[in-house]
Amino acid sequence: MKILVTGGLGFIGSHTVVELQAQGYDVVVVDNLSNSTLEVLQGIEAISGIKPAFENVDLRDKSAIQRFFSAYTDIKGVIHFAASKAVGESIENPLLYYENNLSSLIYLLQQLQEKSEVSFIFSSSCTVYGQAEYMPITENAPIQEAFSPYGNTKQIGEEIIRDVAKVSGINAILLRYFNPIGAHESNMIGELPIGIPQNLVPFITQTAMGIRQQLSVFGNDYDTVDGTCVRDYIHVVDLAQAHVVALKRLLEGANEDKVEVYNVGTGKGSSVLEVINAFEKVSQQKLPYQIVARREGDITEAFANTDKVYEKLGWKASKTLEESLLSAWIWENKIRSK
Ligand code: UD1
Repeated sequence: MKILVTGGLGFIGSHTVVELQAQGYDVVVVDNLSNSTLEVLQGIEAISGIKPAFENVDLRDKSAIQRFFSAYTDIKGVIHFAASKAVGESIENPLLYYENNLSSLIYLLQQLQEKSEVSFIFSSSCTVYGQAEYMPITENAPIQEAFSPYGNTKQIGEEIIRDVAKVSGINAILLRYFNPIGAHESNMIGELPIGIPQNLVPFITQTAMGIRQQLSVFGNDYDTVDGTCVRDYIHVVDLAQAHVVALKRLLEGANEDKVEVYNVGTGKGSSVLEVINAFEKVSQQKLPYQIVARREGDITEAFANTDKVYEKLGWKASKTLEESLLSAWIWENKIRSK
């Protein structure tokens, strides 16, 4: 069965392609290489033995998308990752984010609503909850005003999909990710941040590698176990597998609603200092860090209630924080040894 993965050469996309292939799906990757490279295709092939079909299409180009769907008429499911994801950049250049993340979604849905039936998985984010009142966060927690244009594109994206699903043959699952980290156990694919990483784990691994002088811990005066922010760090392969089970549910018509939403996290919160300690333990490296002021826009804590995703999809995360951090470290070593 043919499945389109947009942004399929990105961090989460590439791991999902591999998991889809392992389940026998015929994957077509669309990516504009804005935040990825063609080498990732080789990494995917090295793992699965199958080179997925690849089309260099920019989803902001409406006619290019039309051409794509004229050539690939038998697509039954779409996993839509292609989007920009840097929070700071989105604040500096909001239109770039609204255009890239929303026009691409709209053009894609325009093509899909022509089909009598299609399954659609959307990369959403726990950022839609803002600072939720209760932990762990359930899918019923209220959506809060987005802090950044990036976050807003996820909220608006969810709404667009809900509206379109009502009047078309599109069935959708919105996956709200917590904090994806780690790399594939084969060490053939992993995260490839461009420039200075904004996210915690790639910053940690680059610091341990000596590329960054020291890690800045953004604030230790939060109301948490040790004063640093708490997040739910999920291994990217676990997250990738959640996409496959979600897609399968839609393809089999097992969904109860036209649009369903699931949290994808481990259910366990870890503070920044706990992450640092766990990293030091698994990597046997001393990590230089200093406590600095809070980062604007950071919430105190976010970790998932995973009851719904387990009950309905039968999915739960299998990897521990230590395993995830170790895989990120092994990957960092590999990319620096090139
Ligand atoms: C961020 C985004 C979120 C987005 C996600 C994508 C913000 C406010 N949120 O999540 O919307 O979906 O990335 O991957 O930007 N930290 C440090 N030092 C660092 C980097 C991070 O102390 O150098 C801390 C942060 O304060 C935070 C934790 O580490 O408590 C995780 O940060 P990060 O990896 O950037 O993820 P989020 O902020 O949770």
